[in-house]
Amino acid sequence: MAALASSSVLASCMLAVMALGADLAIAQPVGERIVGGNNADIKDFSHQLSLEVFFMHSCGASVINENYALTAAHCVQGMPREPPWFVRLRAGSTSGFLGIGGIMHAIEFMEHHPLWNKTTTDYDVGLIKVEKPFAFSNRISPIKLADENAILKVGSVVTVSGWGMTSERALFTPWVLHSVDVPVVDREACNHNYTVHGGNKISKRMICAGGTGDGKDSCQGDSGGPLITQDRRLIGVVSWGYGCGRSGFPGIYTNVANPEIRRYIREVAGV
Ligand SMILES: *[C@@H]1O[C@H](CO)[C@@H](O)[C@H](O)[C@H]1NC(C)=O
Ligand SMILES: *[C@@H]1O[C@H](CO)[C@@H](O)[C@H](O)[C@H]1NC(C)=O
Repeated sequence: MAALASSSVLASCMLAVMALGADLAIAQPVGERIVGGNNADIKDFSHQLSLEVFFMHSCGASVINENYALTAAHCVQGMPREPPWFVRLRAGSTSGFLGIGGIMHAIEFMEHHPLWNKTTTDYDVGLIKVEKPFAFSNRISPIKLADENAILKVGSVVTVSGWGMTSERALFTPWVLHSVDVPVVDREACNHNYTVHGGNKISKRMICAGGTGDGKDSCQGDSGGPLITQDRRLIGVVSWGYGCGRSGFPGIYTNVANPEIRRYIREVAGV
C-alpha cells in the first residue's frame, strides 16, 4: 500500500514536472516560459527561489515574507497540498539546474488562487508555505509587493529573472541565474495579437511585457518567478506566452497589483 501510495505521488509529481513545461503548451501554442538576458547573482535577486523536484529546478518563486513564497498556480497544480519531501524550495543560490548551494526548505503546504483556470490561464498565482522560516541574509530576503491597483505605464522597464531556458529550443535550463529587462506593453494591443492567433484573452489579472523584436523574454522554467519594477517591487509572476522572445508576442505575467490577486496573497500570506 505504502509503495503504491508513494509511487502514485511520484507519478503525479512527475506529471507536475512535465506539466510545468507541457501543460500550458497544450492550452497555448507554447507554454510558460530568460532569453536574451545576462547572468545574474543571487545577491542582486535575493528574493529569487527555485522550486525543485528531485533536485531538479522546475519553477521560480519569490520570498515575500519569512514563511511564504509566491509562485504561479500552474507550478503547484497537480501536486498534493502537502507535497512529498523531494518537492522543496532552494533559497540563496545562484546555480539552477541540478542546483547546488543555498538552503533547502521543506514545504508545509502549497496552493493556488481559488479561481485559477487552466484553460484560460487566468488567476495564475499560488503560494508556498515553508516548514521553517527563511533566514534572511544578503542572499535571501523578501521582496516588497506592488501596491494594490498600482499602474505600470506602457514602456516602463521591468526586470524578470530565473533559471528558465535561454532559447526556445534549449534542452536544459542554465546553470546560473539570468535576468533581463523588458518594457511593459499595452494590454489591448497584446490581447489583440494573442486572440487573433487563437490564443487566450489577456485579462486584468495579466501584464504583457517584451515581444518588441529584440528577443528579450522569459522562457520555460522561469514560470512562477519574479517580475520586478525599477524601484524593486514585485509586480508580476512569470505565467505564459507564445514561444520565447518572439516579436509581437510579449511574455504574460500575473498582475500582482490586481485587487483580486493582491487580496488572495494578503488573505493567505498576510502581506
Ligand atoms: C475555465 O474557463 C472556461 C472558459 O471560460 C470555463 O468554461 C470553465 O468552466 C472554467 N473552469 C473552471 C474550473 O472554472
Ligand atoms: C502586435 O503585432 C504587430 C505585428 O507583428 C507588432 O508590430 C506589434 O508590436 C505587436 N504588439 C504587441 C503589443 O506586441
